[in-house]
Amino acid sequence: MSEVAREEIQSLSDCELAENFVTMCVRASATESSRSLQDSGAASRQIQTRLHREAQQKISTLVARARSLAPQAFQAFINAAMARISTLVLAERMAHSSLLYRAFDALDDLFGIDYGRDRGMRIDPSQTERLYEGAGRGVQTSYESILIALADLAPRPHARMIDLGSGYGRVGLVVGLTRPDMDFIGYEYVCHRVEVSRACAERAGLTAQVKYHQQDLADPIFTIPPADIYYLFDPFTQDTYRHVFAQLKDLGRTRAVCVATKGFAQQWFAQAIDDANWEQPLVCDEGTLGIFRSIPSVSTTRGITST
Ligand SMILES: C[S@@+](CC[C@H](N)C(=O)[O-])C[C@H]1O[C@@H](n2cnc3c(N)ncnc32)[C@H](O)[C@@H]1O
Repeated sequence: MSEVAREEIQSLSDCELAENFVTMCVRASATESSRSLQDSGAASRQIQTRLHREAQQKISTLVARARSLAPQAFQAFINAAMARISTLVLAERMAHSSLLYRAFDALDDLFGIDYGRDRGMRIDPSQTERLYEGAGRGVQTSYESILIALADLAPRPHARMIDLGSGYGRVGLVVGLTRPDMDFIGYEYVCHRVEVSRACAERAGLTAQVKYHQQDLADPIFTIPPADIYYLFDPFTQDTYRHVFAQLKDLGRTRAVCVATKGFAQQWFAQAIDDANWEQPLVCDEGTLGIFRSIPSVSTTRGITST
Protein backbone atom coordinates (compact mmCIF):
# COMPACT_ATOMS: atom_id res chain seq x y z
CA MET A 1 0.00 0.00 0.00
CA SER A 2 1.29 3.48 -0.84
CA GLU A 3 2.53 5.81 1.88
CA VAL A 4 -0.18 8.32 0.85
CA ALA A 5 -2.93 5.72 1.39
CA ARG A 6 -1.42 4.78 4.77
CA GLU A 7 -1.31 8.44 5.85
CA GLU A 8 -4.89 8.93 4.67
CA ILE A 9 -5.99 6.13 6.99
CA GLN A 10 -4.01 7.57 9.91
CA SER A 11 -5.73 10.94 9.40
CA LEU A 12 -9.28 9.53 9.47
CA SER A 13 -11.48 10.55 12.39
CA ASP A 14 -12.76 7.73 14.64
CA CYS A 15 -16.18 8.05 12.92
CA GLU A 16 -14.72 7.80 9.43
CA LEU A 17 -12.67 4.81 10.48
CA ALA A 18 -15.71 2.55 10.90
CA GLU A 19 -17.24 3.68 7.60
CA ASN A 20 -13.94 3.05 5.78
CA PHE A 21 -13.50 -0.37 7.37
CA VAL A 22 -16.92 -1.53 6.20
CA THR A 23 -16.45 -0.07 2.70
CA MET A 24 -13.10 -1.86 2.33
CA CYS A 25 -14.62 -5.16 3.49
CA VAL A 26 -17.32 -4.86 0.83
CA ARG A 27 -14.74 -3.88 -1.81
CA ALA A 28 -12.47 -6.81 -0.95
CA SER A 29 -15.41 -9.18 -1.15
CA ALA A 30 -16.67 -7.75 -4.47
CA THR A 31 -13.24 -7.87 -6.12
CA GLU A 32 -12.75 -11.42 -4.81
CA SER A 33 -16.01 -12.46 -6.51
CA SER A 34 -15.25 -10.64 -9.78
CA ARG A 35 -11.75 -12.05 -10.17
CA SER A 36 -13.05 -15.57 -9.87
CA LEU A 37 -15.69 -15.12 -12.59
CA GLN A 38 -14.93 -17.67 -15.31
CA ASP A 39 -15.92 -15.46 -18.25
CA SER A 40 -13.91 -12.36 -17.28
CA GLY A 41 -10.80 -11.80 -19.38
CA ALA A 42 -7.22 -12.07 -18.08
CA ALA A 43 -6.78 -8.26 -18.00
CA SER A 44 -9.96 -7.78 -16.01
CA ARG A 45 -8.94 -10.53 -13.57
CA GLN A 46 -5.56 -8.84 -13.12
CA ILE A 47 -7.22 -5.52 -12.28
CA GLN A 48 -9.62 -7.17 -9.84
CA THR A 49 -6.70 -8.99 -8.21
CA ARG A 50 -4.82 -5.73 -7.74
CA LEU A 51 -7.91 -3.95 -6.35
CA HIS A 52 -8.52 -6.89 -4.05
CA ARG A 53 -4.97 -6.80 -2.72
CA GLU A 54 -5.21 -3.04 -2.13
CA ALA A 55 -8.49 -3.41 -0.26
CA GLN A 56 -7.00 -6.18 1.91
CA GLN A 57 -3.98 -4.02 2.75
CA LYS A 58 -6.24 -1.13 3.70
CA ILE A 59 -8.31 -3.42 5.90
CA SER A 60 -5.15 -4.52 7.75
CA THR A 61 -4.10 -0.90 8.30
CA LEU A 62 -7.61 0.09 9.43
CA VAL A 63 -7.74 -2.87 11.84
CA ALA A 64 -4.34 -1.94 13.30
CA ARG A 65 -5.50 1.67 13.77
CA ALA A 66 -8.80 0.61 15.35
CA ARG A 67 -7.06 -1.86 17.69
CA SER A 68 -4.81 0.94 18.92
CA LEU A 69 -7.79 3.06 20.03
CA ALA A 70 -8.51 3.58 23.71
CA PRO A 71 -11.21 1.17 25.04
CA GLN A 72 -14.10 3.65 24.84
CA ALA A 73 -13.17 4.82 21.35
CA PHE A 74 -12.75 1.21 20.23
CA GLN A 75 -16.22 0.37 21.56
CA ALA A 76 -17.72 3.35 19.73
CA PHE A 77 -15.90 2.21 16.59
CA ILE A 78 -17.07 -1.43 16.77
CA ASN A 79 -20.64 -0.34 17.48
CA ALA A 80 -20.61 2.02 14.49
CA ALA A 81 -19.07 -0.63 12.22
CA MET A 82 -21.63 -3.28 13.27
CA ALA A 83 -24.53 -0.84 12.78
CA ARG A 84 -23.31 -0.09 9.24
CA ILE A 85 -22.77 -3.79 8.47
CA SER A 86 -26.21 -4.61 9.78
CA THR A 87 -27.82 -2.01 7.51
CA LEU A 88 -25.99 -3.40 4.47
CA VAL A 89 -26.84 -7.01 5.29
CA LEU A 90 -30.52 -6.25 5.82
CA ALA A 91 -30.65 -4.38 2.50
CA GLU A 92 -28.96 -7.35 0.87
CA ARG A 93 -31.52 -9.72 2.45
CA MET A 94 -34.36 -7.64 0.96
CA ALA A 95 -32.69 -7.98 -2.43
CA HIS A 96 -32.34 -11.79 -2.01
CA SER A 97 -28.63 -11.58 -2.67
CA SER A 98 -25.76 -13.24 -0.78
CA LEU A 99 -22.77 -11.25 -2.01
CA LEU A 100 -21.79 -10.33 1.54
CA TYR A 101 -21.69 -13.93 2.83
CA ARG A 102 -18.05 -13.84 4.06
CA ALA A 103 -17.44 -10.12 3.47
CA PHE A 104 -17.03 -9.27 7.14
CA ASP A 105 -14.64 -11.99 8.29
CA ALA A 106 -12.13 -9.21 9.09
CA LEU A 107 -14.29 -8.43 12.13
CA ASP A 108 -12.46 -11.40 13.68
CA ASP A 109 -9.23 -9.37 13.59
CA LEU A 110 -10.96 -6.39 15.13
CA PHE A 111 -12.45 -8.42 17.95
CA GLY A 112 -9.17 -10.28 18.40
CA ILE A 113 -10.37 -13.78 17.51
CA ASP A 114 -7.26 -15.88 17.01
CA TYR A 115 -8.10 -19.27 15.52
CA GLY A 116 -4.41 -20.13 15.84
CA ARG A 117 -5.20 -20.97 19.46
CA ASP A 118 -6.41 -24.37 18.20
CA ARG A 119 -2.83 -25.18 17.19
CA GLY A 120 -1.37 -27.83 19.41
CA MET A 121 -4.79 -28.55 20.91
CA ARG A 122 -4.52 -31.85 22.74
CA ILE A 123 -7.60 -34.00 22.75
CA ASP A 124 -8.20 -36.69 25.30
CA PRO A 125 -8.38 -39.87 23.18
CA SER A 126 -11.32 -41.08 25.25
CA GLN A 127 -13.51 -38.11 24.29
CA THR A 128 -15.74 -38.47 21.25
CA GLU A 129 -17.24 -34.97 20.85
CA ARG A 130 -17.07 -33.12 17.55
CA LEU A 131 -14.63 -30.29 18.26
CA TYR A 132 -13.55 -29.17 14.78
CA GLU A 133 -9.96 -28.68 15.91
CA GLY A 134 -7.99 -26.43 13.52
CA ALA A 135 -11.01 -25.73 11.30
CA GLY A 136 -10.95 -21.98 12.06
CA ARG A 137 -13.43 -19.47 10.70
CA GLY A 138 -14.97 -21.91 8.21
CA VAL A 139 -16.89 -23.57 11.05
CA GLN A 140 -18.09 -20.34 12.66
CA THR A 141 -21.36 -18.83 11.43
CA SER A 142 -20.61 -15.98 9.00
CA TYR A 143 -21.33 -12.50 10.37
CA GLU A 144 -23.79 -11.98 7.53
CA SER A 145 -25.70 -15.17 8.46
CA ILE A 146 -25.85 -14.19 12.15
CA LEU A 147 -27.41 -10.83 11.26
CA ILE A 148 -29.88 -12.50 8.90
CA ALA A 149 -30.76 -15.07 11.57
CA LEU A 150 -31.43 -12.29 14.09
CA ALA A 151 -33.69 -10.51 11.59
CA ASP A 152 -35.60 -13.74 10.90
CA LEU A 153 -35.81 -14.66 14.58
CA ALA A 154 -37.05 -11.18 15.56
CA PRO A 155 -36.38 -11.79 19.28
CA ARG A 156 -38.75 -10.08 21.69
CA PRO A 157 -37.27 -7.24 23.82
CA HIS A 158 -34.95 -8.57 26.57
CA ALA A 159 -35.01 -12.10 25.15
CA ARG A 160 -32.39 -14.61 26.28
CA MET A 161 -30.47 -16.47 23.60
CA ILE A 162 -28.16 -19.46 24.17
CA ASP A 163 -25.59 -20.72 21.67
CA LEU A 164 -25.07 -24.45 22.24
CA GLY A 165 -21.47 -25.00 21.13
CA SER A 166 -20.46 -21.35 20.84
CA GLY A 167 -17.03 -21.85 19.25
CA TYR A 168 -15.02 -18.61 19.24
CA GLY A 169 -18.05 -16.55 20.24
CA ARG A 170 -19.09 -14.74 17.07
CA VAL A 171 -22.85 -15.12 17.64
CA GLY A 172 -22.73 -13.53 21.10
CA LEU A 173 -20.61 -10.63 19.89
CA VAL A 174 -23.12 -9.77 17.17
CA VAL A 175 -26.08 -10.17 19.53
CA GLY A 176 -24.39 -7.96 22.14
CA LEU A 177 -23.65 -5.20 19.66
CA THR A 178 -26.93 -5.19 17.76
CA ARG A 179 -29.34 -6.10 20.57
CA PRO A 180 -27.97 -4.63 23.83
CA ASP A 181 -31.34 -5.36 25.50
CA MET A 182 -30.81 -9.11 25.06
CA ASP A 183 -29.07 -11.54 27.34
CA PHE A 184 -26.72 -14.07 25.70
CA ILE A 185 -24.98 -17.21 26.96
CA GLY A 186 -22.55 -19.31 24.94
CA TYR A 187 -21.59 -22.82 26.09
CA GLU A 188 -18.46 -24.31 24.56
CA TYR A 189 -16.48 -27.48 25.26
CA VAL A 190 -13.03 -26.11 24.34
CA CYS A 191 -11.52 -23.94 27.10
CA HIS A 192 -9.31 -21.68 25.00
CA ARG A 193 -12.24 -20.79 22.71
CA VAL A 194 -14.17 -19.67 25.76
CA GLU A 195 -11.18 -17.58 26.90
CA VAL A 196 -10.94 -15.90 23.49
CA SER A 197 -14.72 -15.27 23.38
CA ARG A 198 -14.63 -13.67 26.83
CA ALA A 199 -11.67 -11.45 25.96
CA CYS A 200 -13.44 -10.26 22.80
CA ALA A 201 -16.66 -9.51 24.70
CA GLU A 202 -14.67 -7.57 27.28
CA ARG A 203 -12.86 -5.44 24.70
CA ALA A 204 -16.16 -4.74 22.93
CA GLY A 205 -17.71 -3.66 26.25
CA LEU A 206 -20.29 -6.46 26.29
CA THR A 207 -19.55 -8.39 29.48
CA ALA A 208 -22.77 -7.33 31.23
CA GLN A 209 -25.03 -9.04 28.72
CA VAL A 210 -22.81 -11.56 26.90
CA LYS A 211 -21.42 -14.53 28.85
CA TYR A 212 -19.44 -17.58 27.78
CA HIS A 213 -19.00 -20.74 29.84
CA GLN A 214 -16.84 -23.81 29.38
CA GLN A 215 -19.26 -26.71 29.40
CA ASP A 216 -19.54 -30.17 27.91
CA LEU A 217 -23.18 -30.21 26.86
CA ALA A 218 -23.11 -34.01 26.83
CA ASP A 219 -22.53 -34.01 30.59
CA PRO A 220 -25.58 -35.77 32.12
CA ILE A 221 -25.30 -33.61 35.27
CA PHE A 222 -25.63 -30.33 33.40
CA THR A 223 -29.11 -28.91 32.70
CA ILE A 224 -29.57 -26.39 29.91
CA PRO A 225 -31.17 -23.26 31.42
CA PRO A 226 -34.42 -21.76 30.14
CA ALA A 227 -34.14 -19.30 27.27
CA ASP A 228 -36.24 -17.87 24.47
CA ILE A 229 -33.87 -18.89 21.67
CA TYR A 230 -31.38 -21.76 21.35
CA TYR A 231 -28.91 -21.60 18.49
CA LEU A 232 -27.05 -24.62 17.12
CA PHE A 233 -24.64 -24.69 14.20
CA ASP A 234 -23.72 -28.34 13.54
CA PRO A 235 -22.19 -28.82 16.96
CA PHE A 236 -22.71 -32.38 18.10
CA THR A 237 -22.29 -36.08 17.64
CA GLN A 238 -25.49 -38.08 17.31
CA ASP A 239 -25.50 -39.09 20.99
CA THR A 240 -25.02 -35.51 22.17
CA TYR A 241 -27.74 -34.24 19.84
CA ARG A 242 -30.08 -36.84 21.38
CA HIS A 243 -29.19 -35.72 24.92
CA VAL A 244 -29.48 -31.98 24.16
CA PHE A 245 -32.66 -32.28 22.08
CA ALA A 246 -34.39 -34.23 24.87
CA GLN A 247 -33.81 -31.19 27.12
CA LEU A 248 -34.93 -28.67 24.48
CA LYS A 249 -38.11 -30.68 23.87
CA ASP A 250 -38.82 -30.70 27.61
CA LEU A 251 -38.27 -26.95 27.81
CA GLY A 252 -40.57 -26.45 24.81
CA ARG A 253 -43.42 -28.32 26.55
CA THR A 254 -43.74 -25.71 29.28
CA ARG A 255 -42.65 -22.48 27.61
CA ALA A 256 -42.51 -20.92 24.16
CA VAL A 257 -38.99 -21.60 22.92
CA CYS A 258 -37.39 -21.18 19.57
CA VAL A 259 -34.66 -23.52 18.31
CA ALA A 260 -32.60 -21.96 15.52
CA THR A 261 -30.63 -24.58 13.62
CA LYS A 262 -27.84 -23.84 11.16
CA GLY A 263 -26.60 -26.40 8.66
CA PHE A 264 -27.34 -30.09 9.28
CA ALA A 265 -28.64 -29.40 12.79
CA GLN A 266 -31.93 -28.57 11.04
CA GLN A 267 -32.40 -32.15 9.80
CA TRP A 268 -31.38 -33.65 13.12
CA PHE A 269 -33.84 -31.49 15.04
CA ALA A 270 -36.66 -32.07 12.52
CA GLN A 271 -36.22 -35.83 12.99
CA ALA A 272 -36.15 -35.53 16.77
CA ILE A 273 -39.38 -33.61 17.36
CA ASP A 274 -42.98 -34.59 17.57
CA ASP A 275 -44.84 -32.38 15.08
CA ALA A 276 -47.79 -31.81 17.41
CA ASN A 277 -45.61 -29.86 19.85
CA TRP A 278 -43.85 -27.68 17.29
CA GLU A 279 -44.97 -25.28 14.57
CA GLN A 280 -43.95 -25.98 10.99
CA PRO A 281 -40.32 -24.77 10.81
CA LEU A 282 -39.54 -21.55 9.08
CA VAL A 283 -36.69 -22.18 6.63
CA CYS A 284 -34.64 -19.07 5.86
CA ASP A 285 -31.27 -17.87 4.55
CA GLU A 286 -31.33 -20.00 1.41
CA GLY A 287 -32.40 -23.09 3.34
CA THR A 288 -29.45 -23.01 5.74
CA LEU A 289 -31.37 -21.76 8.79
CA GLY A 290 -34.33 -23.63 10.29
CA ILE A 291 -36.41 -21.89 12.94
CA PHE A 292 -38.53 -24.21 15.10
CA ARG A 293 -41.04 -22.74 17.57
CA SER A 294 -42.57 -24.86 20.30
CA ILE A 295 -46.28 -25.03 21.08
CA PRO A 296 -46.25 -25.33 24.89
CA SER A 297 -48.90 -27.68 26.24
CA VAL A 298 -48.46 -26.73 29.90
CA SER A 299 -48.39 -23.04 30.62
CA THR A 300 -46.01 -21.73 33.25
CA THR A 301 -45.41 -18.39 34.86
CA ARG A 302 -41.74 -19.17 35.48
CA GLY A 303 -39.51 -16.30 34.40
CA ILE A 304 -35.92 -16.40 33.22
CA THR A 305 -33.43 -15.48 35.87
CA SER A 306 -29.93 -14.23 35.09
CA THR A 307 -26.95 -16.50 35.69
C1 LIG B 1 -19.56 -25.59 14.13
S1 LIG B 1 -19.00 -24.83 15.60
C2 LIG B 1 -20.15 -23.48 15.74
C3 LIG B 1 -19.64 -22.32 16.55
C4 LIG B 1 -20.63 -21.18 16.81
N1 LIG B 1 -21.87 -21.66 17.36
C5 LIG B 1 -20.93 -20.41 15.54
O1 LIG B 1 -21.99 -20.67 14.96
O2 LIG B 1 -20.13 -19.55 15.12
C6 LIG B 1 -19.57 -25.97 16.86
C7 LIG B 1 -18.90 -25.85 18.21
O3 LIG B 1 -19.55 -26.78 19.10
C8 LIG B 1 -18.60 -27.21 20.04
N2 LIG B 1 -19.02 -28.48 20.68
C9 LIG B 1 -19.01 -29.73 20.16
N3 LIG B 1 -19.43 -30.63 21.07
C10 LIG B 1 -19.70 -29.94 22.21
C11 LIG B 1 -20.16 -30.31 23.51
N4 LIG B 1 -20.41 -31.57 23.82
N5 LIG B 1 -20.34 -29.35 24.43
C12 LIG B 1 -20.09 -28.03 24.13
N6 LIG B 1 -19.64 -27.63 22.92
C13 LIG B 1 -19.45 -28.56 21.96
C14 LIG B 1 -17.34 -27.39 19.19
O4 LIG B 1 -16.16 -27.39 20.01
C15 LIG B 1 -17.42 -26.20 18.24
O5 LIG B 1 -16.66 -25.11 18.73
